[in-house]
Amino acid sequence: MSTSFAMIDGEGPESYQKHSKYQGGLLEAAKEKINEAISMKLDIDFTSNLVNIADFGCSTGPNTFRAVQTIIDAVEHNYYLKESYLHETEFQVFFNDSSNNDFNTLFETLPPARKYFVIGVPGSFFGHVLPRRSLHVGVSSYSLHFVSKIPKEIKDRDSHVWNKDIHCTGFSKEVVKAYLDQYKIDMGSFLNARAQELVSGGLLLLLGSCLPNGVQMSETLNGMMIDCIGSSLNDIAKESLIDQEKLDTFKLPIYVAYAGEINQIIDDNGCYTIEKFDIISYENEEIPLDPDFLTVSFKVTIGGIVSSQFGRHVMEKTFEVVKTKTQEMIPQLANARPGMQYLIVLRRI
Ligand SMILES: C[S@@+](CC[C@H](N)C(=O)[O-])C[C@H]1O[C@@H](n2cnc3c(N)ncnc32)[C@H](O)[C@@H]1O
Repeated sequence: MSTSFAMIDGEGPESYQKHSKYQGGLLEAAKEKINEAISMKLDIDFTSNLVNIADFGCSTGPNTFRAVQTIIDAVEHNYYLKESYLHETEFQVFFNDSSNNDFNTLFETLPPARKYFVIGVPGSFFGHVLPRRSLHVGVSSYSLHFVSKIPKEIKDRDSHVWNKDIHCTGFSKEVVKAYLDQYKIDMGSFLNARAQELVSGGLLLLLGSCLPNGVQMSETLNGMMIDCIGSSLNDIAKESLIDQEKLDTFKLPIYVAYAGEINQIIDDNGCYTIEKFDIISYENEEIPLDPDFLTVSFKVTIGGIVSSQFGRHVMEKTFEVVKTKTQEMIPQLANARPGMQYLIVLRRI
């Protein structure tokens, strides 16, 4: 079975659609800065009557709709300020995600009062998914910590680089290097693809989590919860519900980078100017230390990947174990080292 990156689908209580407030909090907190960036930095042909916007890794709503509306409001305001609002401007929005994303739910829940045309774009954002020089503003929120594939050597039990954990904990230098090398390739491909699609003067807005210097992934709440998913899968393997050998090769396609690593990759790419690289703090940044909430939050994001490897039944069982373990882990989680959230604004040269 190939790995799916897709979030848990549908509109049920344990779907990404119903359980993505945490990710949405960053967009809300960054709204003013996005407005400011679009007013000051977007440098496109303001006589054109069609503005193309794309969300890369949109999943299902409501966050993608919020991201897109924030951009449209800011562009409209900008057009108005530049006194070029002589004719009716039309907006066209490209919603991109992997082809196994739940596009049906996305389209069924589109805001009824929206004033934009909608196009679904299935396909990996590490490749070129839009026509050249057609995009004015692109956004990608909480999607760029995914890598396109797991480095081979860390899956191989016979390799000295074999990773016994299911993710990059940050403690083994060799494992970090293998993930980081893949991340650099993927981010480079993402930036190159967007560079082909963006018009000169167009903007790319990137939002997500990164690690503060000196903090290892496994010391953060996200890292501790992922370790808990790994240990729950091990319990399931002991019950012979999954094959231990298969579990030993299972690794999450996720690398949470340090801010400096992201900055370096963008600099090396050379197709953009970095207009903003801000660390954003906001009120609901902290995930509530409630076992139910934590379990569902990680189930809707990581459950899809577990399901694609071991099946839905095993995934459900795993998260029952995660919930029990999380109850016992609350004091440890309370001492987790904080991660960081970023807003990066890039302008295509
Ligand atoms: C955590 S969700 C973020 C959704 C939304 N942007 C938000 O802020 O709530 C990450 C999304 O990235 C998508 N994704 C991961 N890798 C991808 C790729 N290579 N191409 C397209 N989408 C990808 C996943 O399918 C998932 O829907």
